[in-house]
Amino acid sequence: MRVLIGGGSGFIGRELTKLLKDKGHEVTIISRQPGPGRITWTDLESASLPVCDAVVNLAGENILNPLRRWSESYKSEVFNSRLNTTRSLTCAITSSKAPPQSWILITGIACYRPNVQTPYTEDSEWTTFDLWSQLVKEWEEAGRLPANTTKNIKQVVIRSGVVLGQGGGAIKQMLTPFWLGLGGRLGSGNQPFPWIHVSDLAGIIAHSLDTSRIPASSQPEVFNGVAPALNTNREFTQELGRVLKRPTLLPLPEFFLRAALGWERAAILTQGQRVVPKRTLESGFQFQYPDLTSALRQILAR
Ligand SMILES: NC(=O)c1ccc[n+]([C@@H]2O[C@H](COP(=O)([O-])OP(=O)(O)OC[C@H]3O[C@@H](n4cnc5c(N)ncnc54)[C@H](OP(=O)(O)O)[C@@H]3O)[C@@H](O)[C@H]2O)c1
Repeated sequence: MRVLIGGGSGFIGRELTKLLKDKGHEVTIISRQPGPGRITWTDLESASLPVCDAVVNLAGENILNPLRRWSESYKSEVFNSRLNTTRSLTCAITSSKAPPQSWILITGIACYRPNVQTPYTEDSEWTTFDLWSQLVKEWEEAGRLPANTTKNIKQVVIRSGVVLGQGGGAIKQMLTPFWLGLGGRLGSGNQPFPWIHVSDLAGIIAHSLDTSRIPASSQPEVFNGVAPALNTNREFTQELGRVLKRPTLLPLPEFFLRAALGWERAAILTQGQRVVPKRTLESGFQFQYPDLTSALRQILAR
């Protein structure tokens, strides 16, 4: 199978590329930078879609870069990097004479309103209520193929939780303070912490490429990309400390996170949703790391 991956050079894209190549598939990355095995977004816009069996989009400006002040221009980059790359791909797929069999978009679980009690599945109704749910709405709309072009193209949206893995994502930023014994819960720590191991997210993407599992429909199939374990931030913090054998006694207060990151970004860390991968499991996907202990042991193994 030939797979085209927008943003494939990033944390999730590297894991996905390795998994697909190990399975014998060919991967081409779409990047802002040219290079071997890559095309650029400008190439995509100036020519037709390269011949491929599947297209995946993982492109997007990092939202939680602690070194960048949260400003209107940063916010625009966060939105535009996701919406413009997704629109470029839907447009290229729609106008292709030989369209791919699958179109897979990775978005987020921020469409579900933070709530410590209600579990959300892929079937839960939602409407926009803040900046992040607005982003997911516009992102998923940008990824929807017009009804007259959807014939034979399986559309999948994977709403990912916080992705945990070696060498990138949230864990990379947390390790130093935790090693120094300065790790602690964020805010109250009672907020749900929907997470997934990067190998499982790559696995769900690869599983979605098997078109025989996905029914043909003009609506995208939605999979929640979260581990089945429903953990809180407090449980995650304690387990990370336990696996690292470090204390986790110093909570990071909400006011500090708001001052450091801006209140909209701080909310991503201090609030959370209980998200259940109902359809992901019903589709036959088997998690390699369904619980925090197994995931953290793998990630922190040296
Ligand atoms: N990591 C998580 O916890 C998580 C959770 C939920 C959803 N997601 C979503 O999953 C996708 C991939 O996440 P990731 O962790 O792999 O991200 P990442 O490591 O930051 O990589 C994303 C890739 O996007 C491209 N990119 C970055 N800024 C861009 C910009 N301004 N314009 C166009 N392309 C840009 C980069 O590729 P080039 O430099 O090669 O152009 C980069 O390698 C993102 O859309 C993210 O929102 C991630």
